[in-house]
Amino acid sequence: MKDLTIIAHIKKYQYDELNKEDKRLIDAAKEITAHSYAPYSHFFVGVAASLENGAVVVGTNQENAAYPSGMCAERTTLFYANSQYPDQAVRTLAIAARTNKDFIETPIPPCGACRQVLLESEKRYGRPIRLLLYGKQFIYEIKSVAELLPLSFDAATMEVVD
Ligand code: THU
Repeated sequence: MKDLTIIAHIKKYQYDELNKEDKRLIDAAKEITAHSYAPYSHFFVGVAASLENGAVVVGTNQENAAYPSGMCAERTTLFYANSQYPDQAVRTLAIAARTNKDFIETPIPPCGACRQVLLESEKRYGRPIRLLLYGKQFIYEIKSVAELLPLSFDAATMEVVD
């Protein structure tokens, strides 16, 4: 028997420590939470994705009375970005979330389904997607989605070696 340990590398920043570009992306994610449609959870999530060509695409969570029919902000944004710019990889994705009161204190982590979808995009474009997870107290920077989804299921898992 062997014990295997998986380590995730995460950098923790204060907002003021970030460069101008990252601040702008986080600000855009925070601003777009105003467009979130979340009448059921009252949890308003905003995402800003910066693409290889410099374009910035923003999106929000969109809920539905049939709860599972709703969509997280990360997938809304990624699918839109990949639809509008199929040749442009997402370089950095900033995520922010607030309630009716204020932005949340600690960084918003993407859900498991969004990690799976973001990972597929990393593989599709052969480029890591850098994540910036906003919290009022501090921000997490993660260099790639793969870091957050070890032992992932992907197309290679289905390949049979003869
Ligand atoms: N949500 C997101 O949009 N992204 C996340 O990373 C976590 C959860 C949304 C889904 C739902 O509309 C609300 O937040 C509460 O779960």
